[in-house]
Amino acid sequence: MARPKIALIGAGQIGGTLAHLAAIKELGDVILFDIAEGTPQGKALDIAESGPSEGFDAVMKGTNDYADIAGADVCIVTAGVPRKPGMSRDDLLGINLKVMKSVGEGIGKHAPNAFVICITNPLDAMVWALQQFSGLPVEKVVGMAGVLDSARFRHFLSVEFNVSMKDVTAFVLGGHGDTMVPLSRYSTVAGIPLPDLVEMGWTTQEKLDAIIQRTRDGGAEIVGLLKTGSAFYAPATSAIEMAEAYLKDQKRLLPCAAYVKGAFGLDGMYVGVPTIIGAGGIEKVVDIKLNKDEQVMFDKSVDAVKGLVEACKGIDPTLV
Ligand code: APR
Repeated sequence: MARPKIALIGAGQIGGTLAHLAAIKELGDVILFDIAEGTPQGKALDIAESGPSEGFDAVMKGTNDYADIAGADVCIVTAGVPRKPGMSRDDLLGINLKVMKSVGEGIGKHAPNAFVICITNPLDAMVWALQQFSGLPVEKVVGMAGVLDSARFRHFLSVEFNVSMKDVTAFVLGGHGDTMVPLSRYSTVAGIPLPDLVEMGWTTQEKLDAIIQRTRDGGAEIVGLLKTGSAFYAPATSAIEMAEAYLKDQKRLLPCAAYVKGAFGLDGMYVGVPTIIGAGGIEKVVDIKLNKDEQVMFDKSVDAVKGLVEACKGIDPTLV
């Protein structure tokens, strides 16, 4: 059987890391697309030259022509600009919306059967716009945010409890921004919910609150340290986890920015919710029960996403 084809739209920091991970994990042949001439070609060649040592056979190709993504099974979109210190993700809206238009049209024309994972920020608004510009079905267009936010939460928790990251599960829902909703009740160490761990005296509520805030600020912390761009290793790894779930029909239950209509009382919008990813794309949105406090946080996050969507409509009236 032919290897799956993975198209990476944007060959910057995240795009290059995605290509390397896809090659090492032998997920398929990789097309790196970018508007910058030479960048995708150079990164593709560099990664291909790591093949003999790593032992993969996947083909790496760089291009500036959308025609080369034809027939892609998965497209991962990172095209756009990242934040600089002092910027919020929302500050990127105007410029990255224009990028989503050209990318969406390119995918819609050349890879209409792909599972599309958007990483470009501000995430929830960009994935919404990308779906419209591409014309692909909503279950095949999804945003990567919750997996990354949850991974950050899990990492911080594993350090606090001094346990393996493998034994820490965590859920972060809502928009990928300052209003994201880390859910303590649904986050566990080997099945023991965080509130129980506080009761057991393994940590304190104050420490847990600080970890939750650090999770919310996780992206900004890295932007502040790097100074020249935003995080790329963990975002790329998170998106690859989602791509693998689709390509291998794993039915993973992962928090993603998905189109939600009906569940969570929403009437049709993209926001971070628990989903099941398999060969059908987003096969299910898992409508978990929120308590009063969680619902307040989730509603606030939903409102923030709606505000960004309205701002997009103001910039591009073709969006509905
Ligand atoms: N079409 C294709 N590629 C584009 C376009 C476009 N219209 N506009 C910009 N690009 C490319 C740039 O040439 C660059 O190579 O997108 C790439 C972005 O790479 P980086 O600047 O290194 O950004 P990166 O760190 O990869 O982040 C990309 O993901 O997490 C988000 O906030 C982040 O929105 C940003 C995106």
